Amino acid sequence: MSGSAVDEYYPGLEGVIANETAIANIEGKDGSGGLEYRGYRIEDLADSVSYEETAFLLLHGDLPTASQLKDFDQRLKASRAIPEALVGLYKQIPASIHPMDVLRTSVSVLAHYDPDVSAPPSDHAANVRKAERLIAQMATAVAYRERVVKGLPLIAPDAKLDHAANFLHMVSGKVPSAVVRQAFDVSLVLYTEHELNASTFSARVTASTLSDLHSAIVAAVGTLKGPLHGGANEEAWKVLERVGAPENAERWIEDALARKERIMGFGHRVYKKGDPRAAILKRYCASIAREIGDDRWERIAEPIERAVTTQKLLPPNVDWPSARLYHYMGLGIELYTPIFAMARVAGWAAHVIEQLDHNRLMRPRARYIGPPAREIKPLQER
Ligand SMILES: CC(C)(COP(=O)(O)OP(=O)(O)OC[C@H]1O[C@@H](n2cnc3c(N)ncnc32)[C@H](O)[C@@H]1OP(=O)(O)O)[C@@H](O)C(=O)NCCC(=O)NCCS
Repeated sequence: MSGSAVDEYYPGLEGVIANETAIANIEGKDGSGGLEYRGYRIEDLADSVSYEETAFLLLHGDLPTASQLKDFDQRLKASRAIPEALVGLYKQIPASIHPMDVLRTSVSVLAHYDPDVSAPPSDHAANVRKAERLIAQMATAVAYRERVVKGLPLIAPDAKLDHAANFLHMVSGKVPSAVVRQAFDVSLVLYTEHELNASTFSARVTASTLSDLHSAIVAAVGTLKGPLHGGANEEAWKVLERVGAPENAERWIEDALARKERIMGFGHRVYKKGDPRAAILKRYCASIAREIGDDRWERIAEPIERAVTTQKLLPPNVDWPSARLYHYMGLGIELYTPIFAMARVAGWAAHVIEQLDHNRLMRPRARYIGPPAREIKPLQER
């Protein structure tokens, strides 16, 4: 790239290659879009490996053997507790504060109590340990804060339950059915990693200054919160509610598009022909709707999907099915984006570690469009 920032300008950094990665590939075979985690296709992973195996794959470079998985699982389970001071804070932070804001604070507080807090940022092994602890702790943090806000007693993590089932149990007090557990686990697998999306990019930018892993994850949580990124799953649910009935879909979408509104849960910066994760999760939505014996939201989602696809040529992204999947599981809408975050932390951490292992400070340029160089007038003359 030339030394002048005027020559090359890509608003939103669209299409710019900012770093190399061995973690995820979203090019697909012919460049038309697909998703692989370390060379494994998402379609294969979703149906056959757990969130724990996926997190191990991202952090350690390959799928675990049976004994590696056993050890990893034990390490995660041993890390599920969070400091009392943080639980105390949940009781003091006003109930009206969004869980994503509280999660951002939580990661920051967890940093102070991490046993590797004073390890140098470039210590690979310490970073992996921090990442494993955060994966376990963030799920507990989201569940505990939810229980505190609802005025319900906290449910301690249960070492007999895996990551997905334990989270659902800590939130609701009920051990999920096998079908619900599996669908939730798949949603976590799909949310775990997605190359250089906005939140991962901000995590890598933070890490590139040789800041610490927790600081990078704090930045990522703050970035994920926005409705153009992770916050879209919460907004997608509102679309379903506002449309309210299958027969309203076509007109509602037409009106919204005429008002130049964005239909949340549709479109993607990279996947112009469709998000492979959306197709996978849609199958699970249908099976959970069958299990709970209520297909109302499936019947509303279908014509909305058709209308947006035909009227604006925009396919659904992963946030579209996940919104109703989480609704079927009885999860409050304000938990949708925190769940995305507690899954994505494995991907964020893998990127932070990759960045710190091969660091180059991220410092792009801006094209200046302000006034030309000028003299300062004395105060009395301005
Ligand atoms: C994700 C997103 C930001 C990517 O957008 P992008 O690739 O930068 O696309 P642009 O913002 O350049 O939009 C291109 C055109 O499509 C339209 N568009 C894109 N997404 C749209 C949406 N969800 N609803 C309505 N119109 C949309 C834009 O308005 C623009 O239309 P125009 O050409 O008539 O002006 C965008 O699709 C979006 O806002 N989606 C909704 C939020 C969401 O679901 N985010 C989760 C992503 S996983």
